[in-house]
Amino acid sequence: MTNKAIGIDIGGTGIKGALVNTSTGTLIGDRVRYDTPAGGQPAEIAKVVKRILGEIPGVKSRYPVGICFPAVVKNGITMSAANISKEWIGLDAEGLFDSTLGRSVRVINDADAAGEAEVKFGAGHNKKGLVIMTTLGTGIGTALLMDGSLVPNAELGHLEIDGVDYETKAAFSAKEREGLSFAEWAKRLQKYYSTLDALFSPNLIIVGGGVSKQHAEFLPLIKLNCPIVPATKRNNAGILGAATYASRHFRDTKH
Ligand code: BGC
Repeated sequence: MTNKAIGIDIGGTGIKGALVNTSTGTLIGDRVRYDTPAGGQPAEIAKVVKRILGEIPGVKSRYPVGICFPAVVKNGITMSAANISKEWIGLDAEGLFDSTLGRSVRVINDADAAGEAEVKFGAGHNKKGLVIMTTLGTGIGTALLMDGSLVPNAELGHLEIDGVDYETKAAFSAKEREGLSFAEWAKRLQKYYSTLDALFSPNLIIVGGGVSKQHAEFLPLIKLNCPIVPATKRNNAGILGAATYASRHFRDTKH
């Protein structure tokens, strides 16, 4: 069994991929990135993924391929679609990628992939009990990890608080859209994370997403009953987690 796998991270704006050493949690060689095709249609996205796979240096056909995606993913079927075409809802995404790429792939929710990467190689490494991974971006992605094991598809970014889907208030996109200062945004994050804390009593909360590199601006303002820390794998967490997930659930166990 190889310790190399390919991770591909599909987002609303970009699709990026790289070869990963799944023992060390590091990228081997350069990342390849393309913009997400306008509209985010399945066939268009699958074509870009194929191009990326063809351009990642050092790829061999025997390496597992993991793809992470901003949707609930159950048995390889995408059950929702955030910031991407609604055509993904109910689609056999693994089947689509298998046939477009001519090889077997695994598809996982993007926040679940980031959570896998952080507990295996990053801020959640060796942490006991419940770790909640969160990603602050266009939406809020969440992953529940108990003693390092993933409980998939948590979707806690859509918790209803004050009568609204709170992702629309506390995601990084809301800060941008409404021109909120870090202090103003942190008040909303306080409300969001206090709710998570009250409902789940986690041992640790990890905050990822591009904005987490500015964690010093907002994390110290959030007071909880558990530690809240920045992710360490940031932009590569999806790629690392998708690759790791694929190598654990390789073809032999798929059908
Ligand atoms: C989606 C999740 C996704 C998150 C981050 C949310 O809107 O419902 O499936 O993980 O955005 O992309």
